[in-house]
Amino acid sequence: MARASSVFVCSACGTESAKWHGQCPGCGAWNTLAEEARAPAPGARGGGGGRPRAAAAKPVPLADVRAPRIPRLTTGIGELDRILGGGLVPGSLVLLGGSPGIGKSTLTSMALGNLEGAGRRTLYVSGEESAAQIRLRAERLAGAALQVPVLAETDLDTVLATLDAERPEVCVVDSVQTLVAGDLTGAAGSVGQVREVADRITRLAKARGIAVLLVGHVTKEGSLAGPRVLEHLVDCVLQFEGERERTYRTLRALKNRFGSTNDVGVFEMKQGGLVEVADASARFVGEATRAPGSVVLAAMEGSRPLLVEVQALVSPSELVPPRRVANGIDRNRLALVLAVLGRHGGVAVGSADVFVNVAGGVRIDEPGADLAVALAVASAQRGVALGAGAPVACFGEIGLTGELRSVAHPDRRLAEAAKFGLRPVIAPRDSAGAEAQTLRQALRLAMPAATGRRAKAA
Ligand code: TYD
Ligand code: MG
Repeated sequence: MARASSVFVCSACGTESAKWHGQCPGCGAWNTLAEEARAPAPGARGGGGGRPRAAAAKPVPLADVRAPRIPRLTTGIGELDRILGGGLVPGSLVLLGGSPGIGKSTLTSMALGNLEGAGRRTLYVSGEESAAQIRLRAERLAGAALQVPVLAETDLDTVLATLDAERPEVCVVDSVQTLVAGDLTGAAGSVGQVREVADRITRLAKARGIAVLLVGHVTKEGSLAGPRVLEHLVDCVLQFEGERERTYRTLRALKNRFGSTNDVGVFEMKQGGLVEVADASARFVGEATRAPGSVVLAAMEGSRPLLVEVQALVSPSELVPPRRVANGIDRNRLALVLAVLGRHGGVAVGSADVFVNVAGGVRIDEPGADLAVALAVASAQRGVALGAGAPVACFGEIGLTGELRSVAHPDRRLAEAAKFGLRPVIAPRDSAGAEAQTLRQALRLAMPAATGRRAKAA
């Protein structure tokens, strides 16, 4: 039952209801009603309704608004500070999302340890782990991680009261899904609870100038009670990605009120916590296999060029339909590339399983990866390594008619490839690499021997 101060709101159509229903009385959708707290209207604290009566306020020209430059709090983790736009802004709310086990608690513990070591007041609130568990993690980390004050608590009111009493400069809440607002009946982690928890923490943080790092789990489907509902509420949304079993993790900003959303940090999970990988390209190129089915993609991770190895395996299959497995790239993009390869590139994989992998567990979300996927699959299908001895790098988007389309920052991609002696770089026409206008031309450039033999045979 809802208390007097809460209502149930449908997440699909917004219908409000005093009682919970399995099916929304407004739109008929199932399981969409979530409890929300109703703040009493200002001036109507006694419970009475009616419009609040307030005097009109006077708007001020922006030029007259005082905006003091508040120094940022640097976390001492270079990649994290860079992605935040130069460190944490006091009083701001940062949401750090990522799947379980990716290293969110490790990253935030390290950041607080560094801040504490630099003389800042910090607080680590954990609803997930006991203080003893947090201590065990901190023991593995360098710096002042053991000096960080910790509160293992799930009750929101207790957390807020502690924040108000302790007044830390930086606080981590790990995770937002484990705190419970006592005046709502929903279970911890439900949409209503998560929203209420974040909302009340935000209000206190802004009022007291506390920089808060909210940790949030995202399920594989990026689903429901995940931090999606909070994105509009916080100042900055960071996403920590990668495969749990792999060593590399990427950190990127999906939203940032105080910096750009173009940067990506690469980390490696080691014994003593997360280590920044300053020159990720060197690492990935060094690990590239150069075997049939392997190609180096000159990708852009935001404003930063990154060389990664894309691998493909094509194997005959009895399955109908055959398997299409994509790790690190979009599945739909793979389907598109395979279709264009078959139709315009003379590479048919209709009766074979196709596996495509971005090495190191990195995720590449840009159309510039198309050509790398195509070349890797073609190379795997023909069993021929790309390039005449020298490793091949490439980038470019593939259009539905088999044309190569230019992508952003060709100059930076080429420069990065040149830095590692990768030649040729197969790229769309206007890029001053080994230029190709169509997918067919790119295939010919990448596999002169194989396509030449075919041409002769035909
Ligand atoms: P964790 O930060 O707890 O993940 P999350 O909070 O996102 O769920 O840690 C993730 C994994 O990292 C965990 O399986 C243990 C591992 N790990 C290391 O390999 N080295 C370390 O120094 C630490 C602290 C953790
Ligand atoms: Mg954790």
